[in-house]
Amino acid sequence: MNEVNWQARYENADTPWDKGEPHPMIARWTQDREVEGDILVPGCGRGWDLQAWGVAYPQHAVIGIDLAPSAVSSARRLCQDLSNVTVHEADFFSLESWYEGNRVGLIWEHTCFCAIPPPLREVYAKTVAALLPSGGRLIGAFFTDITDRASGPPWNTTMSDIECLFSPWFVIEQPVAEHRTFAGREGEERSLIMHRR
Ligand SMILES: C[S@@+](CC[C@H](N)C(=O)[O-])C[C@H]1O[C@@H](n2cnc3c(N)ncnc32)[C@H](O)[C@@H]1O
Repeated sequence: MNEVNWQARYENADTPWDKGEPHPMIARWTQDREVEGDILVPGCGRGWDLQAWGVAYPQHAVIGIDLAPSAVSSARRLCQDLSNVTVHEADFFSLESWYEGNRVGLIWEHTCFCAIPPPLREVYAKTVAALLPSGGRLIGAFFTDITDRASGPPWNTTMSDIECLFSPWFVIEQPVAEHRTFAGREGEERSLIMHRR
């Protein structure tokens, strides 16, 4: 299994995934969508997406989780004026054991699923399914079309992998009207909305 030292990546400023701004789909989604419950952001990195969710939904708790202490410090600094945002230094896979169930209404996925080693994907799918109540949503961007990488992260996936992993728990909606991506990631990322059964 490929183990990435995420903290070292942040310490060495080796963070090519970090665009210094929120993912473009968030601005489109938050224009006219209602959210119920808490918003969870696994692998939140330096917090650009957390900040965007926190500003867009001030009445909702927005929770970021990241393993890397440096990412967590940056995210806390970025969101320090947003009282609805909290950032936890924690392993996403431990979340089920300490996060109170049935409060999460939406999980935002952006470059966390593609960052974890592929053998852990099934646990990722089980964890998001366990955290969301029926009707809750997993939304975000998935790298489904990277063809020129022998290794990761980001680890490529395919729609058929995603259907296999998530459809036992989710109805997968696509295409997604709110699809947007960063310049340079066109054609690599697919936006997905998954509704917890
Ligand atoms: C590719 S980065 C993406 C960060 C952020 N989503 C962004 O786009 O800027 C992946 C992030 O996931 C975090 N991460 C990896 N495995 C994790 C785990 N098991 N639990 C929590 N965070 C994790 C890493 O520390 C890193 O910040």
